Amino acid sequence: MFQAWVSKVAGQLRCGVMLGIAAALLFAAETHAETLDVLHWWTSGSERRAADFLAQKLGDENIEWHDVAIPGGAGVGAVKVLKSRILAKQPPAAAQLIGPSISEWAKLGLILPLDDVAQAGAWQDHLFPTAWQLVQYKGHVLGVPLGIHRINTLFYNRKVFKRLGLPVPRRWADFEQAARRMQASGITPLGQSSEPWQVATLFETLILSEGGPAYYRELFVKRQPGAYADPKLARALQHLRDLKRWMAPSEKPWPEMVRQLARGEVGMMVMGDWAKAELNGMGLVTGEDFSCVPVPDTTDYHLYSIDTLAMFAVDDSLENAQHRFAQLLLQPNIQLGFSRLKGSVPVRRDQDLAGLDVCARASWQAFARGPGMQAPSLVHRMASDEPFKDAVVAQVHRFFMDDTMSVAEVQRRLAAQARALANEGG
Ligand code: BGC
Repeated sequence: MFQAWVSKVAGQLRCGVMLGIAAALLFAAETHAETLDVLHWWTSGSERRAADFLAQKLGDENIEWHDVAIPGGAGVGAVKVLKSRILAKQPPAAAQLIGPSISEWAKLGLILPLDDVAQAGAWQDHLFPTAWQLVQYKGHVLGVPLGIHRINTLFYNRKVFKRLGLPVPRRWADFEQAARRMQASGITPLGQSSEPWQVATLFETLILSEGGPAYYRELFVKRQPGAYADPKLARALQHLRDLKRWMAPSEKPWPEMVRQLARGEVGMMVMGDWAKAELNGMGLVTGEDFSCVPVPDTTDYHLYSIDTLAMFAVDDSLENAQHRFAQLLLQPNIQLGFSRLKGSVPVRRDQDLAGLDVCARASWQAFARGPGMQAPSLVHRMASDEPFKDAVVAQVHRFFMDDTMSVAEVQRRLAAQARALANEGG
């Protein structure tokens, strides 16, 4: 009897010890799952789904994505939060950082180089040269490009166009004809928010339409003084003002503008192709319910914004997880899955186009025509530093809101700003 009791207790103890060991192992595994803070501005329905897709893939690697999402289209709020976290010596492990701002932080030694990951994955061979250049700084690789957005995209509601018997708005003449018909039928022709970055997003497509990539670069990348006095700038400003008669601008976030297009309250909208993902997320099918064409007179060009994650040198113990994250992000299936949810196209030039819809295919093909056909988005931080971008956005917005301001006045102001910021080393 006593013996039986002893052996039962011993059995329970053994079992308890085994359970204890298993629990300890599980606990260890859990506490060893590294956590990476990821700062970004993807907060609309479709942006959220795209970010969640990455978070889940990272989770499958036993690395936790700790979300730091800062609302505000075009990263207006996120970039400020990032700066203050860096000043407080609390940078996130990863952040959506694009364009020249990557090298600005790199100069301060804050970005973790990803050279080994890039070499092991032969990134240089797989990436579009523009995407590869973007993440280079002094011979080091400092970011992971995630997807390429096309800004010169004109979306149109196909049902509205069909009902009114309108041709696809490929040229400005088609656009004007469609706009007149829509207005006569009580539909706002062009959906446009008066938020400064959204006005400037439309404006930069008009610069491209007026002057092509070479002039666009003179104005926004090289900031050549003569470019500000050029009649092409005057015409683009006048065009922006003329388009106002087709809009009913109010300061709405971009997803709300997209909903208006989806409901057929507006017939057309110029926006980066993240708007496509938002429309898809509402159940609208690309090429059926709505479609897209390049903004008139920009058909061969690609006004791009490349979403990129940079890793901050926060803590040595996180480096391994940061490298694994970087390695994961460039895998073809992750690139494709993310782009399909986000509205962008993969940054890999070995992409199989079969997985892309009609708008994405056109975007990818335009981008693949090479740097001569590409223009970096100013508003989405691909063309200049932050102060110059902010100055242009503010001037263009002021001109848009105030019909008494002359075109020549804006030209003078932009030229003065370019000069002043160049003197500051901008
Ligand atoms: C980013 C996109 C984002 C959009 C709207 C752009 O600057 O590149 O990823 O969807 O802003 O917030």
